[in-house]
Amino acid sequence: MNAMAGALILGLETSCDETAAAVVEAGRRILSNVVLSQVPVHQLYGGVVPELASREHLRGVVPIVRQALERAGRPLAQMDAVAVTCGPGLAGALLVGIAYAKALAGAAGIPLLGVNHLEGHLHAVLLEERSQGRPDPSFPAVALVVSGGHTQLMRLERHGEHDFRYRLLGHTRDDAAGEAYDKVAKLLGLGYPGGPLLDQLSIHGNPEAVRFGRIHLKGNPLDFSFSGLKTAVLRHVQAAGLESGIATRRRAVAELGRAPSLHEWGLLCEPATLDLIASFQAAVVADLAQRTFAAVEQLTAAGDPPASLFLTGGVAANRALRRRLQAEADRRGLGLFAPALALCTDNAAMIAAAAYPRFCRGERAGAALAASPQLALDAAP
Ligand code: KG4
Ligand code: ZN
Repeated sequence: MNAMAGALILGLETSCDETAAAVVEAGRRILSNVVLSQVPVHQLYGGVVPELASREHLRGVVPIVRQALERAGRPLAQMDAVAVTCGPGLAGALLVGIAYAKALAGAAGIPLLGVNHLEGHLHAVLLEERSQGRPDPSFPAVALVVSGGHTQLMRLERHGEHDFRYRLLGHTRDDAAGEAYDKVAKLLGLGYPGGPLLDQLSIHGNPEAVRFGRIHLKGNPLDFSFSGLKTAVLRHVQAAGLESGIATRRRAVAELGRAPSLHEWGLLCEPATLDLIASFQAAVVADLAQRTFAAVEQLTAAGDPPASLFLTGGVAANRALRRRLQAEADRRGLGLFAPALALCTDNAAMIAAAAYPRFCRGERAGAALAASPQLALDAAP
C-alpha cells in the first residue's frame, strides 16, 4: 500500500459565495463536507456582491472549519495537510481562505497546498467515482465545467499515478452559463440563484415556443457566449409585452416578504413566461451540448479520441443538460461522469481531493501563497 494511502487533507474553499471546509482521506473518502451558503445574503441583490462575500467568509470560516473537523471526528493535529483554493475567484474572498489556511497549517506544523478551483471541479468527478467505490474513468477525458463563474471545455489526461495535465479547449467570452441563468431570472422578476428555479419551472413551458436560433461565434468553435441570448430574452420580453407580468410578480414577492416556494413561483408565472423560460433553457442546453461534442469530434479527428466525458460545476445539476449529454454520450459509446449535486456545486471536498495527488508528489506552497483571481488551470499555483 502506498505510504500516503491514509493521508488526511483538510480542504478550504472561499473563492465565491460559499464558505466550505471538508476532510478527505487519500483523495477518495469524504469524512466531512460542510458548506455554508451565502445565498440569503446575496439574494437581495440578485447576484454575488464581492464585499459582502468577503465579510461573510470572515464570519463563517472559523466555525465551518471547526464543524468539518468535528464531523470528521478528527482534530487538526491529525491532519496531514491543509489545502486551500488560491484562484480563480474573488480576490477578497480568496484571501480569507488563504490567510486562515496558512494560520492552520502553521499552527499544526503541516504542509499547505494551493489548489486551482477549476482543478477542484474536475477532481469532484473522480472523487464521486472513488467515494462510491467505482474505478476511475478512462483518460483522456473531455470535461465541461459549467457554473456561475465558469464555462470551460477542457481536455485532461493522466501522467502516472499522481499527475494530471489539463488543456483548455474553449471558454466563455462573456457570461458563464450559470450567470446567464441568474441574469435571466433577475430580468424576469424571479429569485436568486436563477438556475435551479428556471430548471424546475421550464418543465411547465414549451421549449419550442420561442426560437432563439443557434449562437454563432467567430474564431474558436469551442468558445461560448451567452450575453447575446440574455439580450434576446430581454427583446422577447418587450416584444411579447411581458413587462407588466414581471412588475406584478415583483410586487407579489415584495408583499409576501419571503422567497416564494416553487409552487408559488409557478403560480406567479403566466404561460408565456413559462414558455420563454423553457425556450431559454433549451437554447442553453443545446449550445452546451453542441460545443461539448464538437470538442469530442475535434480531438477524435486529430487522432486523440477522448475515452470519457466529465460534466461538473453548479449547472451540471441541470436535469435537461444531464439528460441531453447522457443521450448523446450513450449514442457514441462514451462514458459520462457527473458528480452528485453536493459535489457539483462549490465545496471543499473537491479541493482536498485535488490537493491529494499534489501532496503525494511532494508539492508544498510557501508562506508567500497569494490569491490569484485570474489563475489559469495549466498555471502552477
Ligand atoms: O458551482 P457553483 O455552486 O458556483 C460557482 O462556481 O459559480 O454554481 C452556481 C451556479 C449558479 O449560477 C446557479 O444558478 C447554477 O449554478 N445552477 C443551475 C442549476 N443549479 C445551479 N443552473 C441551471 N440549472 C440548475 N439546475
Ligand atoms: Zn465553482
